[in-house]
Amino acid sequence: MLEPDRFWLDRNRGSDLLFDAFLKANRYPLRIKSGGMVRSKTLQADTQTPLWPIAQGLILGNDTAMLASSLVLGIETTCDETAAAVIERRSDGTGRILSNVVHSQTEEHAAFGGVVPEIAARAHVDLLDGIVGRAIKESGIGFAQLAAVAAAAGPGLIGGVIVGLTTAKAIAMVHDTPLIAVNHLEAHALTPRLTDALEFPYCLFLASGGHTQTVAVVGVGNYVRLGTTVDDAMGEAFDKVAKMLGLPYPGGPEVERTASGGDPNRFAFPRPMLGRADANFSLSGLKTAVRNEASRLMPLQPQDISDLCASFQAAVLESMADRLSVGLRLFQERFGPPHALVAAGGVAANQAIRGALQDVAAKAQTRLIIPPPALCTDNGAMIAWAGAERLALGLIDTMDAPPRARWLLDENAIAPAGFANTRAGF
Ligand code: KG4
Ligand code: ZN
Repeated sequence: MLEPDRFWLDRNRGSDLLFDAFLKANRYPLRIKSGGMVRSKTLQADTQTPLWPIAQGLILGNDTAMLASSLVLGIETTCDETAAAVIERRSDGTGRILSNVVHSQTEEHAAFGGVVPEIAARAHVDLLDGIVGRAIKESGIGFAQLAAVAAAAGPGLIGGVIVGLTTAKAIAMVHDTPLIAVNHLEAHALTPRLTDALEFPYCLFLASGGHTQTVAVVGVGNYVRLGTTVDDAMGEAFDKVAKMLGLPYPGGPEVERTASGGDPNRFAFPRPMLGRADANFSLSGLKTAVRNEASRLMPLQPQDISDLCASFQAAVLESMADRLSVGLRLFQERFGPPHALVAAGGVAANQAIRGALQDVAAKAQTRLIIPPPALCTDNGAMIAWAGAERLALGLIDTMDAPPRARWLLDENAIAPAGFANTRAGF
């Protein structure tokens, strides 16, 4: 049972309709925040009624979380990493990682050349309680000290998302701790505030196996998508190119390694979207061009493979630099100069891509921040941190928070013109 008088409802943030519905449905000694003031209002106390029926959308604030530092457990299971971590968010907004345990399921999926959703979900079931146990143990704290438990509730492979979110709900119920359902993309977006105490607004370039987006990070919960891929994600293109050239999974690092011994000028692959006024990306045409060239050269010699990888990577770099420069220009027009260009997602581990990003940031007269590799790829610390950032604003969730396969970071984002029927990140 949660202690109701530790919480307040923020009337300014919830709709009046939901607010009134809540007051009717729950009789609590509540403190109600209205017009910036927190005042006590004791409704008929009924401590048997759990807090979870609060309709989603109402903001439940927690004074203790606002004033003191808070410890948050984070759980990540949206793809093929089973991860849990404990972080501390201090009252001045800075953070500290107490533990960060990641099990990458690479071996489980290697034989299939890609992530198999059903295998991933089953592996999460097998692994997650042990990973959470280790994260708690290594943090040196107990469940009772947690201010909240956060889980990535999407977007991602739905089986895995269900495993992580359900586990978090169980922990929240058993330990009477608020639950926070975190958007996985939001967690990537907020990571530089944990690693570098970065101020809003800043520009995020997120490139992973499932996503390729340029996003203006304006505040917690306030994201504006400036550009997105209209077909494949960047990591996905690396993985597919690796597969067609017979390189092992996961393909990104293999393509990078193989490219280092190759000639980037041997094949003139297309530079997708170059010079367009929007900031969107496209990778599937480039991937097809590599496939066509590879079929023409069959059987492939090792040098062919190196040259194909190097020429592919060179095309990705040039297209990315052009698309991101446009994204940064759009950012500047709407939000002024960004405090940084931030790169996140597995693709940001690529050294050649990092070099190109450095140039793009320098040209836009901003600095480049790339969180350390362990916090760039999927991990529990970023989920815990996003949870702590939300908790500090009083944003917590109810037990009926749904797992979501799709969950746009920018709720107002629409499909790029002419690409409404493509995947386009929708
Ligand atoms: O962020 P991440 O670990 O997981 C998600 O997809 O959410 O990103 C994994 C992706 C894979 O597609 C992988 O091939 C790609 O990032 N990747 C790379 C490199 N390292 C990982 N792509 C290019 N070069 C790399 N060095
Ligand atoms: Zn990710």
